[in-house]
Amino acid sequence: MKIMRTKIKDVLKGDLINQSVNIKGWVRTFRNSSFIAMNDGSCINNIQAVVNYEQINPETLKRITPGACLSVTGKLIASQGKGQSVEIAVEHIEIYGDAESDVTKPNSYPLQPKAHSLEYLREIAHLRFRTNTFGAVFRVRHTLAYAIHKFFNDKGFVYLHTPIITSSDAEGAGEMFRVTTLDMKNVPLTDSGDIDYKQDFFGKSTNLTVSGQLEGELGAMAFSDIYTFGPTFRAENSNTARHLAEFWMIEPEMAFYDLNDNMALAEQMLKYVISYALEHNKADIEFLSQRLLDEEKQKPQNERSELSLIEKLDFCLKNDFARITYTEAIEILRESNHNKKKKFQYLIDGWGADLQSEHERYLVEKHFKKPVILTNYPKDIKSFYMRMNDDGKTVAAMDILFPGIGEIIGGSQREERLEKLESRMKEMHIPIEEMSWYLDTRRFGTCPHAGFGLGFERLVLFVTGMTNIRDVIAFPRTPNNCEF
Ligand code: 4AD
Ligand code: MG
Repeated sequence: MKIMRTKIKDVLKGDLINQSVNIKGWVRTFRNSSFIAMNDGSCINNIQAVVNYEQINPETLKRITPGACLSVTGKLIASQGKGQSVEIAVEHIEIYGDAESDVTKPNSYPLQPKAHSLEYLREIAHLRFRTNTFGAVFRVRHTLAYAIHKFFNDKGFVYLHTPIITSSDAEGAGEMFRVTTLDMKNVPLTDSGDIDYKQDFFGKSTNLTVSGQLEGELGAMAFSDIYTFGPTFRAENSNTARHLAEFWMIEPEMAFYDLNDNMALAEQMLKYVISYALEHNKADIEFLSQRLLDEEKQKPQNERSELSLIEKLDFCLKNDFARITYTEAIEILRESNHNKKKKFQYLIDGWGADLQSEHERYLVEKHFKKPVILTNYPKDIKSFYMRMNDDGKTVAAMDILFPGIGEIIGGSQREERLEKLESRMKEMHIPIEEMSWYLDTRRFGTCPHAGFGLGFERLVLFVTGMTNIRDVIAFPRTPNNCEF
């Protein structure tokens, strides 16, 4: 009788004890010609399959190597060994795929059972899902994505798919990847010597989107509450552990929300998805928490984090985020010993400066020791669409800063007053005619509204305790790196 395959996660629950089971997966280790540790990605834990090597064809035995893919059938029994409560007494093994384990041979399996550095694993990102760490990270990433959809769905938000190819620069920062089908060796020019985009695929110059917000606002003006969740692209040449050229962003946009409503929603959403992951990926997060502790042990005592990953997540759930204005933040920073002792690379001497990540992290990690929402930034360091405050100097912006991460969310109340928006766009040299479709929201039934953008990978960094953003997206794209 053919036995149906069961996922390892379900087999490990133990309900099938004393029954025949079939599992399929990849070999992690094979010890003493007897103990096969198998994993199928359904959970962090392996199942142990015990072979009686007199029963199994020696040719088959030789092919059980790390990385090989097997189908294993046998009786589920209580385990004598420590580390697992059940194991499989193997009756039959079918080999689906071999993996050469002799490292002196060409094309041997690069993931031998030993600790590999994250840097090495980044070079073999196509195989790193098969390690404990990346298995855990990508299961948590999945859960967070699901939790985000669930959070907004439960609140009646409409998931809007905004375009990937666009002709507008939503953030006005000009850090865009061009999209073209023009022949690079023979670019058509106009009479005045400019590139003739009329001859390009879309008949105009186009690029990959840096944000779905402007289109999102159009949706909010009809559905009241929408969110986007998609890839965004930025050609900023920042080779840091927090920046990707291709990253995923969640952008809710809500009619009738002011800045306070916006902050409340953002805080509620972050807490919801973090607690959802803690509840549904407990084993993965416990593994990642332990991993981080081991990593911290390598550091000098005074650089070690005071809280474990799980404590850090719990702390974030149990405490209200601090809320301060940009002006208050500048005061705190200017008066800080850090500033006086010139420990900042960029010293704070006055109002108006953009905050660097060292300042954001000082506020969060040293001063408040919890997440911080910074509001009401100077208009000159923020985007054109943010609502002008009555002081004429600041805009209704909000950034949420997280420990170890810095900015995780950027958002604002939007400028809903047509004249004010137009004059701001003129000041900032935003092409008003081309953006006529956007201004229509202010022409036809405008209303107060607000929204924000959550950098998905920065959220995954926080929840997994990983420290490099390249390790929380499957195939990272960064300057000079577009492998796989
Ligand atoms: O602050 P940003 O640029 O805001 C916007 O794009 C707005 N349109 C959002 C909105 O109001 N709808 O980006 C939002 C978030 C940042 O806080 C950060 O978490 C993330 O996106 N982010 C990046 N993540 C990884 N790599 C990059 N290069 C990122 N740039 C921004
Ligand atoms: Mg920002």
